[in-house]
Amino acid sequence: MSKRDRPIGIFDSGIGGLTVVREIIKQLPDEDIIYFGDTARLPYGNKSAETVTRFSIENTKFLRKFGVKFIVVACNTSSSVSLPTLKRRFNVPIIGVITSAVRKAVELSQAARIGIIGTRATIASSCYQGEIKRINPRFKSFAVACPLFVPLAEEGWTDDQVTLEVARRYLRPLLAKDIDTLILGCTHYPLLKNIITKVMGRDIKFVDSAEETAKEVKNFLLKNQLYTSRNSHPRICKFYVSDEPAVFKKVGKRFLGKTIKSVKKVCIN
Ligand code: DGL
Repeated sequence: MSKRDRPIGIFDSGIGGLTVVREIIKQLPDEDIIYFGDTARLPYGNKSAETVTRFSIENTKFLRKFGVKFIVVACNTSSSVSLPTLKRRFNVPIIGVITSAVRKAVELSQAARIGIIGTRATIASSCYQGEIKRINPRFKSFAVACPLFVPLAEEGWTDDQVTLEVARRYLRPLLAKDIDTLILGCTHYPLLKNIITKVMGRDIKFVDSAEETAKEVKNFLLKNQLYTSRNSHPRICKFYVSDEPAVFKKVGKRFLGKTIKSVKKVCIN
């Protein structure tokens, strides 16, 4: 098989990365995908950088076994804390979800004031904040960790009074900062866009890291002659998890936007 016809590998701590898969499916209809969700060890968002990096190395090794041509770290937490290590250790192109989202936010924000929401580990890493400064030192960023958004999104409480109250409490400090752009720096947050809009107001511009990452994947593949030329068979999309597949299938349907037919449980470490 030629290199360009090999699959793209994507991993996440669990279900959330399916928002990235959904965008990649939309923007790259011919690419084969191997997805790994580390459901046995999630959430990553409350763990230390060292632990998340160890898990991310194991996830990457697993995906490499499929001869993937490219790896997407769909998890914001993994991208924030382990991307440099992964790039150093593996000789396969790897991208995370941070840089493309920051580029878009800097492009959109006229006030040069950007809000970032993510897991505790993502916000504590200051990765988004650092990337904003690197791309344009004139910009100010304001970051808030919203850890309860992850279970609420998985529970399907995406239009619920309880979630609205939680959002009000988390986002209140950002309201005072006069931001005009907000980065949804976690795989789960695109599902809560309506609730977040209710709190932040209709004028706020959202940056969805899943959407921006899919664009970056496409650009990279085109630029490096890795875009598949094959359209002779239907796209293959394989899903692997490290814990019971039933929950992944059920909850994942909402994240992916369609039924996941087959999921295989694997032991990777
Ligand atoms: N996938 C994680 C992220 O984007 C959220 C879930 C978790 O904490 O594992 O940061």
